[in-house]
Amino acid sequence: MAKKHMLNYKNWSGSELRELLDLAIEVKKNQKNYWNALDHMTLAMIFQKTSTRTRVSFEVAMTQLGGHAIFLDWRSTNFILAELKDEIRYLDRNVDAIMARLMTFEQVQEMAEYSRVPVINGCDNKYHPTQGLADFLTIKEHLGQLEGVHLVYVGIHNNVANSLVEGGTKLGMRVTTVCPEFNEASRDQELLDEAAKTGLYENTLDLKAAVAAADVVYTDTWVDMEFFLDPKFEEEKKRRIEKMLPYQLNEALLKNSKALIMHDMPIHPGYEIDRWAIESSNAIMFDQAENRLHAEKAVLLRVLGKA
Ligand code: CP
Repeated sequence: MAKKHMLNYKNWSGSELRELLDLAIEVKKNQKNYWNALDHMTLAMIFQKTSTRTRVSFEVAMTQLGGHAIFLDWRSTNFILAELKDEIRYLDRNVDAIMARLMTFEQVQEMAEYSRVPVINGCDNKYHPTQGLADFLTIKEHLGQLEGVHLVYVGIHNNVANSLVEGGTKLGMRVTTVCPEFNEASRDQELLDEAAKTGLYENTLDLKAAVAAADVVYTDTWVDMEFFLDPKFEEEKKRRIEKMLPYQLNEALLKNSKALIMHDMPIHPGYEIDRWAIESSNAIMFDQAENRLHAEKAVLLRVLGKA
């Protein structure tokens, strides 16, 4: 079987994504059946950026599947001194798969080009495919299906928005973005054009109408994690907060809505979402976060040819 990476969903059809989600449901339900599925296999996990969920879920996934994960902080490796293609051609002789959270998609692509083992994108400037899978799994668990479900993403159009638009439309969902601002580093016009062709994707600034028609409302940070605490980004952060505050998910917006409330975490209460929405009985972000583990198990089993 040809080596399969997960860099985004471009090389994954709607039916392949559906199969992955079915596998995630099966693995979640019958965890013990997979305890030895990746016996003696190793995943390298490389991080250029901070993480809680991506690191924990991939490491726990490898442990629970009978394999092992190695955490590599980019700054304490010789990736900082050498060329990526050379370090990767060493690493792939030791491990069975690589999961990487890098600054740019171009770096992830280069890694995949030179690696002899599957590469999984753990979030870059353009895509967050394993987050999207966990999100689709969570929606399916709560609403029983994906086809026809209307997801409304509110916030800055970013890497997560791309994965929701790309994956959601492939899975037959309606995806509406309410994005007064576009993170240009995330722009993938081809992805948006392909999604638009399905007739299932649209962008609007009419927040109230979009929320009224939503089965699920979703938001994410207004400031990428690498900039959140950076003093050089302070002014831009202030500008974004002022522009985006009318688009906050909060009690005033959602008190009469039955829509599920999602957030990929980490959460910034008082910015993209208020505490009322986080604690609402419609909020499912902790289920979403838990499902990173189950969705990633399915991805690991699939790219390693064990499912
Ligand atoms: N959602 C997500 O990727 O979380 P982390 O940044 O904590 O990994």
